[in-house]
Amino acid sequence: MVHVHVAGLVQHAHLQLNVTALILETTLKKGSLTIFKGAKNMSYGYHLSKIYMNNLTQFPMRISSTIYNFLEQKVDNRNLLDLCCGTGHLAYYFLKKGYHVTGIDLSKYMLSHAKNINTNYIRAGKATFIHGDVTNFSLANRYSIILSTYDSLNHLDNFTLLSDTFKNAYSHLDENGYFIFDLNTKQGLSKPNGGLLSEDENHFNMAQSFYDSTWNKAYCRYYGFIKEPSTEHYFKYDETISNTIFSLSEVERSLYQTGFTSVYFATLRDLDRKIENPESKDRVFAIVRK
Ligand SMILES: C[S@@+](CC[C@H](N)C(=O)[O-])C[C@H]1O[C@@H](n2cnc3c(N)ncnc32)[C@H](O)[C@@H]1O
Repeated sequence: MVHVHVAGLVQHAHLQLNVTALILETTLKKGSLTIFKGAKNMSYGYHLSKIYMNNLTQFPMRISSTIYNFLEQKVDNRNLLDLCCGTGHLAYYFLKKGYHVTGIDLSKYMLSHAKNINTNYIRAGKATFIHGDVTNFSLANRYSIILSTYDSLNHLDNFTLLSDTFKNAYSHLDENGYFIFDLNTKQGLSKPNGGLLSEDENHFNMAQSFYDSTWNKAYCRYYGFIKEPSTEHYFKYDETISNTIFSLSEVERSLYQTGFTSVYFATLRDLDRKIENPESKDRVFAIVRK
């Protein structure tokens, strides 16, 4: 997730690398860094999940309606599997439209927000939120739509984990279903990003991204202060999320190897239209069918 575009943060690549290294070193010393060697280490901790709820849910809310409109005339069954569902805002949109939704996420903190905002649908038996790893899961149901949004799959540490996720999507998708996910491209992830997310008397939140061309990674560091309502004390949080830059031609090849028969990349502007040079965009949506 790299989402903040603030002018004035132009840094040279070598400087970015040095800063990344410095931050990694410093945070490692403090023992607070989350480096994702495998999916199991992924984190969206207590504080970052709160920051996400307060600052970062506009994107999933915005894209929900676009994806819904794209799919509305294309699928008959209204059951959706949301991989890396996060705080459940996309799920909420589709639940309101009459879908049954199952969400999977590795962060129990993100999931607790998802469960809170969708409580009524859970009680009605229309929504289920599962604490799990999208690279390794098995459910009894099949789904007409499988989604993974806000470049969640960039969080997977390597191509093997991405391919494992594709295999899981394949085995859980109906024959006529759609698997749609978005990825930040190399172009998107290598741009300097960051800035103030929000501030008031209760919190101060910053985000800053760093591109590491050596390892084809981009890191987004979230840090700041947040007032704990119970104690009135300010707590300093600091979490770094890693993103892997995947080659889109390899992504396409892997999807075909998995068994999917139709794959194209589009932008949110027009999900029906295949774009010819996806690496020239900052973010693309893969539209995938069996
Ligand atoms: C940027 S958030 C996106 C959340 C949601 N899809 C949205 O659009 O708002 C990324 C989410 O991916 C989850 N995640 C990362 N790796 C995962 C994995 N291997 N299995 C399940 N969830 C994962 C994180 O916990 C986090 O909630």
